[in-house]
Amino acid sequence: MYYGEKRVENPIRWGMVGGGRGSQIGYIHRSAALRDFNFDLVAGAFDIDPERGKDFGKQLHVDPDRCYPDYKTMFAEEAKRPDGVQAVSIATPNGMHYEVCKAALEAGLHVVCEKPLCFTSEQADELVKLAEEKHRVVGVTYGYSGHQLIQQARQMIKNGDLGEIRVINMSFAFGGYNFKIEDKVPSAKWRFDPSKAGPSFALGDVGTHPLFIIEAMIPDMKIDNLMCTKRSFVEGRELEDNAFVIMNLKGSENVQAGAQVYCWASSINSGARHYHKIRVVGSKASLEWDDERPNQMLYEIEGEPSRVLERGAGYLTDEARVEDRIGGGHAEGLFEAWSNLYARFAVAMADADKGAYGDFWYPDVKAGAQGIKWIEKCVESADKGSAWVDYE
Ligand code: NAI
Repeated sequence: MYYGEKRVENPIRWGMVGGGRGSQIGYIHRSAALRDFNFDLVAGAFDIDPERGKDFGKQLHVDPDRCYPDYKTMFAEEAKRPDGVQAVSIATPNGMHYEVCKAALEAGLHVVCEKPLCFTSEQADELVKLAEEKHRVVGVTYGYSGHQLIQQARQMIKNGDLGEIRVINMSFAFGGYNFKIEDKVPSAKWRFDPSKAGPSFALGDVGTHPLFIIEAMIPDMKIDNLMCTKRSFVEGRELEDNAFVIMNLKGSENVQAGAQVYCWASSINSGARHYHKIRVVGSKASLEWDDERPNQMLYEIEGEPSRVLERGAGYLTDEARVEDRIGGGHAEGLFEAWSNLYARFAVAMADADKGAYGDFWYPDVKAGAQGIKWIEKCVESADKGSAWVDYE
C-alpha cells in the first residue's frame, strides 16, 4: 500500500508545454504529477495563445514571469535560472511532440511526452538516441498501463500462471466520433488533419494504448509480422476512424511461437464509451481487463470456475499491492494509474534506476518508438491492400 511518502529526495522542478485551459488531457497530467509531490509545477508554455496561456498559468499559481509565450522561450529562459525546470511534459497536439521533445532533450531536460511520440520511425530513433546520449528520461503517457492490475497480469504471466501465451484479443473502440464531430469540436478537428495528427487517427490515438498494455504485461513480446485494414466511415475524413490489425508474435519465454494478436482501434463504435479491453489467452488460463471496470480482472483457468481478481486484495502479488493507494473496495481508476506512472517517471528521473520496488518499468522512449513503428507498419499494410508485412 502506498501512503504518499516521498519517492524522490526533492520534487522535480517541472514545466508544461500545452495542456492549457480547455485541453482534454492537461489536467490529468497535473493531477497525476502533483498528487504525490514528486513534481513541482514552476513554469509553462501552456497554450497556443500566449495571453490565454499566461492567464491560465497564473490560475495554477505559476509565477507570471515563468508563464512563457512558447516552448523555445521557456527552455532558453529557464536555462538561465539556477532553479530552472528539470523536466517538461508535452501535452500539445501530436504535430508538436517531436520538435518539442527533441528541443527539451537538447536543453538537457527530462521529458514526459504524450503519445504518439512523433510521426515516423526515423524521428523516433533519433529521440531514442538523443535520450541515451543525454542520459535523460523520456516517459510516454500510456496512462492506463500504470494500473495495479496490469502489474498483477505481468507477474502472473512471468510466473507461468497462464501457460504459454497463444492469443491476445484487444480493442480500444470508442463511439464518440461516429458523426462529424470535428466540425464542432476544435480538439477533434486537428485529429483528422495529417499535418497535425500524423499518418493515422484511430491507430495512433487509441490503438497504441492496448499495444503498450500488452508490452507491459509481456515484456519479451516481439511482433513478427502484421496485417492491417483501415478506413474512414464518416465522409470527408482524411484519416481512418476505424482499423483492424492482426499480428503474429515470435516465440519467447512466455509466448508460443506464432501466437496471434487481434486489435480493433475505432472511434465509431456507436454507443461504446471506451471499449478498451484486453484478453490474454494462455495454454492453461486467460486474463481479461477492461479500463472502464479497472478494479477487477477476470482470471479463468480451463476446467475451473471463473475468478475475479480484485484490486487491493491480499492475494495479489507484492508488485500489484505496493502501488495500491486507497485499499481494496474503494473505486479508483485512471487518475491512480497516471499517478503511478508519474511516480515511476520521477523515480527514473531522480536516477534511482533500480526503482523503489522489484520489477521497475515505465513506458519509456523505446515504448513510444514502438508505437510509431506499429502505426507505420499498420499504415503500410493497409495501403498495400491489407498485405502481411514483416515487422523487423
Ligand atoms: P487539445 O486540443 O484539447 O489541447 C491541446 C492544448 O495544447 C491546448 O491547450 C492548446 O492551446 C495547446 N497547444 C497547442 N499548440 C501549442 C503550442 N504550439 N505551444 C503550447 N501549447 C499548445 O488536445 P488534447 O486532447 O488535450 O490532446 C493533447 C495530446 O494528448 C495529443 O497528443 C493527444 O494524442 C494526447 N492525449 C492522450 C491521452 C492519453 O490517454 N494519454 C488522452 C487524450 C489525449
